[in-house]
Amino acid sequence: MRRALVVAGLALAACGPVPSTSSAGAVVDFADALPANAPSRFEFGAEASEARIALWDVDVKPDGEGLPLGSGTVAEGERIFQMHCIACHGPTGTEGPNDQLVGSEPWGEWPGSVTVGGYWPYATTLYDYITRAMPQLTPGILTADQKYAVIAFILNRNGIVPEDAVMNAETLPAVSMPARDRFVVDDRQGGAQVR
Ligand code: HEC
Repeated sequence: MRRALVVAGLALAACGPVPSTSSAGAVVDFADALPANAPSRFEFGAEASEARIALWDVDVKPDGEGLPLGSGTVAEGERIFQMHCIACHGPTGTEGPNDQLVGSEPWGEWPGSVTVGGYWPYATTLYDYITRAMPQLTPGILTADQKYAVIAFILNRNGIVPEDAVMNAETLPAVSMPARDRFVVDDRQGGAQVR
């Protein structure tokens, strides 16, 4: 099997668009593939400004450390969700095509459905994750208020917070996630210890 894969790899390399002066297995020098008049640098990208770094420089801990000021309600969150999330997560967060965010069965057979409600041990992770990763194609576009709101909506539809819930830096860390107690601290000894 291994041999078959190697042979296939060589066949692909032989057909590839990049000219290679080296024999199979050696490192290919991609500079050889550039036209003679190619610039030495393409000058793509730009210096990361303080503002751009600030968009990503967010670390929210389970106890809420790192959460910014702001707040949002379930009703506001529904509007944000419809505008920015349903294309990939479905109108009610259950249809996909991407990850199911709602409809977990935290009390069902473990592990059950792996969703926010059924699996995540800390609600604060939603803030951290959405900030750096969602909406997937344009992360960073939501304000703090909008993020708190969409989190309130997701938690509400998972049956974790009530319809009139308001999420902010105090209330979000206080949310008790159904799967919280299903995680244990890994205190095994003998490997590379994390301290
Ligand atoms: C362009 C498609 C797209 C959009 C729009 C989008 N998401 Fe996602 N989302 C994804 C994909 C794909 C994943 C899975 C990413 C992965 O596993 O690496 C995901 C995962 C997630 C998860 C983690 C789910 C889990 O259980 O691991 C959350 C929470 C989430 N999205 C929230 C949102 C919110 C809130 C919005 C709107 C503000 C949003 N997403 C918009 C594509 C999208």
